[in-house]
Amino acid sequence: MGLIMLVGQISLAAENNENDKLPPLRKLTQEQTKVAAANYKKYCVLCHGEDRQGHVNDHAPSLRSKSLFESGMPHAILRPLSYGRKGTAMGGYLDEVGGPMTLDEVWDLTYWLYEKSGVERVALTTNPVHGDIDHGKVVYEKECASCHGVSGEGVTAPALGNPSALAHNSDEFIRYAIVNGRENTPMIGWKEKLSAEDIDNVTAFIRSRASGWVDDKPVLQQLPTRDQYVINPAGEDPDFALKDGIFVSSEDLLAALQARKKMIIFDTRVTSVWQVAHIEGSFPLPYYSDFNKITKDLPKDVQIVAYCSCPRAAAEYTVEKLRKLGYRKTAVLYEGIFGWQFLGYPVTRRDIADIVD
Ligand code: HEC
Ligand code: HEC
Repeated sequence: MGLIMLVGQISLAAENNENDKLPPLRKLTQEQTKVAAANYKKYCVLCHGEDRQGHVNDHAPSLRSKSLFESGMPHAILRPLSYGRKGTAMGGYLDEVGGPMTLDEVWDLTYWLYEKSGVERVALTTNPVHGDIDHGKVVYEKECASCHGVSGEGVTAPALGNPSALAHNSDEFIRYAIVNGRENTPMIGWKEKLSAEDIDNVTAFIRSRASGWVDDKPVLQQLPTRDQYVINPAGEDPDFALKDGIFVSSEDLLAALQARKKMIIFDTRVTSVWQVAHIEGSFPLPYYSDFNKITKDLPKDVQIVAYCSCPRAAAEYTVEKLRKLGYRKTAVLYEGIFGWQFLGYPVTRRDIADIVD
């Protein structure tokens, strides 16, 4: 159902792009506005900031820049919001992929962000931008790699080589961002610094990094229930030596897991990414949970370790909340789950094989 509606909107947008004028978008009702604002606060403020300014955590981009909303409505907003960007801190929030929001809610939040931005859409086509990929590579390495990463993996700026982003964003959308920049962010408009030809070249180079992203329909795992918080209930306390009174290293956590110590591990990311890969035994407790509710079944004397991919923002936020509620035996995994995986430590993931089963 959800997918069908998305597809419907895509073809509508494509038709619109053939005309120069874009029709105005629907206005949210008062009730939809209220729900969207509340959803933004609950789910997005942590990284994108109270005022949608971006760069609060994890270099999450601005969600109010003029060029983004001029060129990206609705899909450059809707799709990352719905499906996330694999391998980055941006998880998917749509219920279909295991997130907390309905299809109506992700659409309304998209429109809400657009209304807040106060800009008008410009018409872009979905035509490819042609350029010389080799020349584009040279420009990229010289001008862009310092922020976006040598392989487009993202350093202080979005991962331009990210297959999810490349699958979602059209060439003209990418070029528009390069030409105009993103106002009030470190991304300058390059139209004065680079020739139009080089802008096309670098756009073509970025496009050439797309490695084909298939939007599989995930098979969702059963979430664990609250009586499953504690792993190895018969084990001993891990007795971690915490750095700065809060951080546990991946090395110490792995050793504790292998020695079957008694612990609770909370995955504090949006639940859709817990579905994709998580540290075995971890319990999904997203940063936006109602912490007062969970304390009913949560023991105070068992060591709790929280982690995220941020690498620490959501986990620190969660531990702060828990400590306020009297949970002193709480720690944050220093490296986050990407650091953990980078070290080669094991995660449980949803593989193609699982889906076929
Ligand atoms: C844990 C931090 C985090 C949270 C929470 C988060 N985001 Fe993001 N978001 C990111 C990061 C990091 C990126 C950039 C990823 C990349 O491409 O490298 C991003 C990218 C995006 C983009 C793409 C923007 C662009 O310029 O291409 C949109 C739209 C977006 N997020 C919307 C949201 C919304 C809406 C919410 C709340 C429902 C949300 N995000 C919650 C971290 C987060
Ligand atoms: C000083 C660091 C820096 C440099 C250099 C830089 N960028 Fe960026 N770029 C950013 C940041 C930060 C963002 C995200 C801005 C925001 O919305 O908050 C961004 C956003 C973008 C986006 C939009 C991505 C999206 O999903 O919305 C594109 C495309 C892009 N940059 C391409 C380039 C290219 C091509 C170059 C080189 C010609 C370049 N950038 C150089 C920092 C940089």
